[in-house]
Amino acid sequence: MDAIPRLGTGVKGLDDIIGGYPQGRSILVTGDAGAGKTIMALHFAIESARKGLKTVYVTTEEDETDLRIQCASLGWDIDELMESGALKIIGLSAIRARLTEAEIHIGIESVKGNLQKILAEIPEDTEVLVIDSIGSHTEKLTTHEFRDQFDLLIYELKKRGITALIILDSATSMEFNEIALYAVYGAIKLIKRENPYTGRRERVMDIIKMRSTRTPIEFVPYIISDDGLEVIENPDE
Ligand SMILES: Nc1ncnc2c1ncn2[C@@H]1O[C@H](COP(=O)(O)OP(=O)(O)OP(=O)(O)O)[C@@H](O)[C@H]1O
Ligand SMILES: [Mg+2]
Repeated sequence: MDAIPRLGTGVKGLDDIIGGYPQGRSILVTGDAGAGKTIMALHFAIESARKGLKTVYVTTEEDETDLRIQCASLGWDIDELMESGALKIIGLSAIRARLTEAEIHIGIESVKGNLQKILAEIPEDTEVLVIDSIGSHTEKLTTHEFRDQFDLLIYELKKRGITALIILDSATSMEFNEIALYAVYGAIKLIKRENPYTGRRERVMDIIKMRSTRTPIEFVPYIISDDGLEVIENPDE
């Protein structure tokens, strides 16, 4: 079997370590609030769109305006990519808000979180997908339902040949995190911690898994600056 082709992550230094994200597979990105999940996903989306891949960024947390502000603050102009159709931003929070209102009005007790709704929203020819994040679509699910829906989501994405970066925030239960970890091809956790030697706060990523890839066991230090997220090789030098 040939090795799976890779797509550039758009994060400086990260491709040297993991060789890019495996094409046509799903990667999970987890981490605390403010860890850099959105910025990491934007790097990938913009890198892919610039190469001409049909890229869709589904946002459930922030709206399109917030994302544009985030991009502008990092010096990225996404207008051209959006006009050419290479990059599409889909905000699901508005749909969610409408749904909730409708639920109240017609008195349906609970319209359960449905990950399939996300797939229904993306164009047929999507090649690269970011879901930021799936947390808000899973609130009302039981463990069993989450497992079924998440497995199905990963299965459908693979069938459609989509390279996906799926963000799951730390507010989502540990149990759901564990289930999601098993289903995906790769997983990266973004961590803010105190360095035990220097006593200083630092950002590190844990490459939890990346099938068919040689991965470091050590934490990989990174910074967030005006240029976005960047992996640093020798942080103490
Ligand atoms: N120019 C910059 N220089 C340094 N740090 C920055 C810069 N821009 C953003 N940051 C840091 O990046 C963080 C935001 O990263 P991001 O929005 O990607 O996090 P997140 O993991 O998606 O958070 P959330 O869970 O809230 O969605 C900010 O909280 C800030 O600490
Ligand atoms: Mg975010």
